[in-house]
Amino acid sequence: MSMLNKRKVLVIHGPNLNLLGERETGIYGKDTIDNINAEIMHKAQELGLECEIYQSNSEGDIIDRLHSARGDFDGVVINAGAYTHYSIAIRDAIAAIKIPCVEVHMSNVYAREEFRRHSVIAPVCAGSIVGFGKNSYILALNGLKDLL
Ligand code: DQA
Repeated sequence: MSMLNKRKVLVIHGPNLNLLGERETGIYGKDTIDNINAEIMHKAQELGLECEIYQSNSEGDIIDRLHSARGDFDGVVINAGAYTHYSIAIRDAIAAIKIPCVEVHMSNVYAREEFRRHSVIAPVCAGSIVGFGKNSYILALNGLKDLL
């Protein structure tokens, strides 16, 4: 948190992202979550950021993780998966913690089904990155680094 310490970033993967690599590979690609996490950790290190990664399929657990980031993390990258489109509770948690959050989607949600075109979390995030596959996470880290 202090200027002397490395900035700390929490990366949150929401529901079904544990199945990356086998889930709808035509949309999300063949990389597993472990591969992607390794790339995230590598990029974070390159940027001089401390990084922790968390995945959960449960709305409440994601909210609890956001809450416990208070006082510990300087920034959050979040792919809230399908919760993006309807979880007012996750939206409120992001607003409550007052830590800059970057919304991430691997797919271009605006080019898919109508129900994916609305994000309830976007208005409380510092910015959103969509449609670049696993690179969406990397671009988000770059953006967050400059924000912090
Ligand atoms: C996603 C897009 C969401 O609409 C979907 O429910 C996901 C993944 C993405 O990364 O493209 O689970 O967040």
